[in-house]
Amino acid sequence: MTARLLSVGFTVLFLSSCVPPGAARISCRNEDGDAVDWFAFYKLPQNREQKNPSTGLEYMYLDPMTHRWRRSQGLVNMTQSILGRTLQQLYEAHEAKNNRTAYLIYNDNAPRSVDYSWKQGHAKGFLLWDKSQGFWLIHTIPRFPPFPEEGYSYPSTGKKYGQIGICITYNYSQFVEIDSQLLSCMPNIYSCSIPATFHPELTYLPKLCARSRIPRIPHRRLSRLQSIKGQNFLHFAKSPYFVDDIYVTWMAQQLQTNLLVETWQPKLPSNCSLPYYVYNIKQIRMSGQFAFSSYYDHAKWCVSQRYKRHWTCIGDLNRSPFQTRRGGGFICTQNKHIYLAFRGLILHYQNCNQS
Ligand SMILES: *[C@@H]1O[C@H](CO)[C@@H](O)[C@H](O)[C@H]1NC(C)=O
Ligand SMILES: *[C@@H]1O[C@H](CO)[C@@H](O)[C@H](O)[C@H]1NC(C)=O
Ligand SMILES: *[C@@H]1O[C@H](CO)[C@@H](O)[C@H](O)[C@H]1NC(C)=O
Ligand SMILES: *[C@@H]1O[C@H](CO)[C@@H](O)[C@H](O)[C@H]1NC(C)=O
Repeated sequence: MTARLLSVGFTVLFLSSCVPPGAARISCRNEDGDAVDWFAFYKLPQNREQKNPSTGLEYMYLDPMTHRWRRSQGLVNMTQSILGRTLQQLYEAHEAKNNRTAYLIYNDNAPRSVDYSWKQGHAKGFLLWDKSQGFWLIHTIPRFPPFPEEGYSYPSTGKKYGQIGICITYNYSQFVEIDSQLLSCMPNIYSCSIPATFHPELTYLPKLCARSRIPRIPHRRLSRLQSIKGQNFLHFAKSPYFVDDIYVTWMAQQLQTNLLVETWQPKLPSNCSLPYYVYNIKQIRMSGQFAFSSYYDHAKWCVSQRYKRHWTCIGDLNRSPFQTRRGGGFICTQNKHIYLAFRGLILHYQNCNQS
């Protein structure tokens, strides 16, 4: 008993000695502003036809505590949304201008930009970290987030279609892996700061941030990542030099599972040419919500067809011939709750013999 109390006491002492008073650790945050190991969100498309029209700002979310999709308390354009809460840490770090935190924001469709970046990866996300830990949020929203100096807002262009995202909190050691994964994706970085204190450990992100010459890029790279609480993930990073359908030739065969794939207005048909098949999802429905077709869904995700493998992946690329030539990635995990939440959304998918 005494020993246990002592060890609890030591743990408290140890933790409090690591974190400066008043400073919370950089993490993905839920709507209450509490740190979470990971969360996923699904922003619903605009729908004017139903009895209770949706504005295109409602979203559903999932974290290790909810176990299933839960409707958000507020709208995605509010600073109290999970995106607003999580980005708040970036705004504070940006304001403080200290050399202890680093951040990087990328989007092929950057806010305020007039020309579209075709060479760079079809990838969207942002990272914030310090020498202890941080998060990497991957999403599908064009022109988001705003430049940090502008604070939080949600673009009106992100309302019409469904959008998705996943945030994962990582120990600092994982950022060394993330450094190489992002290099292969060739992200279009539009705002970043990586102080010199990070340069010894991170090889590529400081170079990408400074727009200096980068070395040869691996055609593709697979990496194991682990969240701060120990959830395992697998990250697929595809460069523009690996010209193929990432779902068919790589993900399904690597994960050894047939995949049901939801992407925006898919142009490539379902494909049963290799040992593991890829089927396009046609329609999905959130419980208690309206059904919608992939035509209105800008999200990019896939799940195993059957529970046995229960993989779920969320990422950057659509099933389009043009995007076989783009960089981008997917983060995958074998978590029962995440799998059942996503698999349960699917109403119809396209078999290989159907048009
Ligand atoms: C969010 O969007 C709603 C609906 O368009 C609007 O009424 C509200 O003012 C917006 N809130 C913020 C903080 O922008
Ligand atoms: C977390 O990262 C620190 C710094 O890289 C490292 O020393 C430590 O071993 C890592 N902890 C775990 C559990 O990976
Ligand atoms: C970081 O900032 C502090 C305070 O401004 C300064 O004393 C320190 O030298 C800086 N460290 C590096 C590596 O730039
Ligand atoms: C299926 O995908 C493979 C690999 O990308 C491709 O070579 C083949 O033509 C595709 N088949 C169909 C029917 O689309």
